[in-house]
Amino acid sequence: MKVLILPDAQKAADRTAEVIAATVTARPDATLGLATGGTMEGVYEHLVTLGPDMSRSTTFNLDEYVGLSPDHPQSYRRFMQTHLFDPLGMPRKRTHLPRGDAPDPEAEARRYERAIADAGGIDLQLLGIGRNGHIGFNEPSSSLGSRCRIKTLTRATRDANSRFFASLDEVPRHAITMGIATILDARRVVLLATGSAKARAVADMVEGPISARCPASALQLHPAADIICDEAAAAELR
Ligand code: F6R
Repeated sequence: MKVLILPDAQKAADRTAEVIAATVTARPDATLGLATGGTMEGVYEHLVTLGPDMSRSTTFNLDEYVGLSPDHPQSYRRFMQTHLFDPLGMPRKRTHLPRGDAPDPEAEARRYERAIADAGGIDLQLLGIGRNGHIGFNEPSSSLGSRCRIKTLTRATRDANSRFFASLDEVPRHAITMGIATILDARRVVLLATGSAKARAVADMVEGPISARCPASALQLHPAADIICDEAAAAELR
């Protein structure tokens, strides 16, 4: 695990975008694992200005809320269309997210896991981190051997994400998410953490025991995991 500490959130996001652009430039048909959330907005903004040709790349997002259709304003599909896929003109058929409105979400999760494998796996997986150490929506207590499945969101995560919804009640209670083992299968992982609210989770991920209590600590097992942080998120590292 390599940790890169940059002075501020903007520089950390820019560096992350540069890693993605370099990956796609070196290998135009790369398969990327993508994330959503506030931390990723700056990454995608910079990636769009770098303007790599991603017309031959394939993408798989980490997760989607159960119950939201792709055109729901708070769906992760909509987030990705707005922040990345539409600005870069990516062909929709190359971009994948779980269907939040699938009639059988468990079956949808299994289909998604197979689709990743059928695409040959993920070359570069982009991750954020929750304040409680979650990656994707693998909340604390998630099995380190987990695959794509349905997870119940913790109250803390629903609270954190309620800023994007009109009220807490509107925040979905479940998500379809890649599992921790799915994430560890990626050939390279880059996790971006910014802001003081992430400092504890970053310290637990990098310096704590490998434990389901901090799902991101599983990245210690990955042979090619880069952590990019700003100084605020790195503040509790020893
Ligand atoms: C989103 C995802 C989550 C977020 C995490 C941090 O696709 O998988 O793990 O990366 O919740 O979210 P922000 O960046 O909003 O703090």
